[in-house]
Amino acid sequence: MVLQIKKLSVSVAVSDKKIVDDLSLQIPDRSVFALVGGSGSGKSTTGLSILRLLAPGLEISGGEIVFAGRDLLKVHTDELRNIRGKEIAMVFQEPLYAFNPVLTIGDQIEEVFSSHTDFPKDKRRSQSLELLRVVGIKEPQRVYHNYPHQLSGGMRQRAMIAQAVALKPKLIIADEPTSSLDVTLQARILELFAKLRQEFDLSVLLITHDLGVVKHMADSVAVMKAGKIVESGMAATVLKNPQHQYTRELLAYAS
Ligand SMILES: Nc1ncnc2c1ncn2[C@@H]1O[C@H](COP(=O)(O)OP(=O)(O)OP(=O)(O)O)[C@@H](O)[C@H]1O
Ligand SMILES: [Mg+2]
Repeated sequence: MVLQIKKLSVSVAVSDKKIVDDLSLQIPDRSVFALVGGSGSGKSTTGLSILRLLAPGLEISGGEIVFAGRDLLKVHTDELRNIRGKEIAMVFQEPLYAFNPVLTIGDQIEEVFSSHTDFPKDKRRSQSLELLRVVGIKEPQRVYHNYPHQLSGGMRQRAMIAQAVALKPKLIIADEPTSSLDVTLQARILELFAKLRQEFDLSVLLITHDLGVVKHMADSVAVMKAGKIVESGMAATVLKNPQHQYTRELLAYAS
């Protein structure tokens, strides 16, 4: 298992309202694990808890998140900073907000190397260009010198994935990574994930409300509703023979 979440609870600090309620899940090595559910079910909160990136006002009120033998909820912030990006990376829905608007794409990918490795400048640069190539960017030299706003949504998404895989993390948390893209681009980005998973030997926690995406991408799936997992299992099995009414409703919506 690359990651085990055990009885995680996240509450609104001021009201004690539970956003994530006693949630457990396990992500096997080299697998795509989909977390699905409707808006507000707590998917992003679960994903953000893993790297302790919750919004102010939310607090983890119980549980463990075990990664490589350590409880991420207990590790020192220095160690957590080292895990972020290097062992666990995140990819978000709209990379325009994740990138710094005043730095070039190349600078931002290189920054990952300068903060986590002692690669000299020329190696940082060549590795960054290589990553842009790996994620299917045809003119890496040009994109390297571009600012985020100069790229299309699909290109930005690829650049962000390049940055996420730079240090060969064991786990990528991808929160609705394709929902801002059109259907064709969505399919290409998902193919890219499948390829990178082979190439980089990684697992993906894929957060989505779209069961169509799960069908094409995921090995396992957990269905989330109101902070709880209502159904989980192999993706093919769950989609073929959903046991829970809520999963059936999501399926009806997807097709
Ligand atoms: N800082 C906060 N303070 C209070 N409530 C919050 C806060 N952040 C999120 N919530 C609430 O937590 C619940 C879960 O939010 P979350 O963003 O995890 O859902 P989600 O499943 O990712 O939804 P979506 O599909 O819309 O992205 C929502 O009801 C939301 O209103
Ligand atoms: Mg969300």
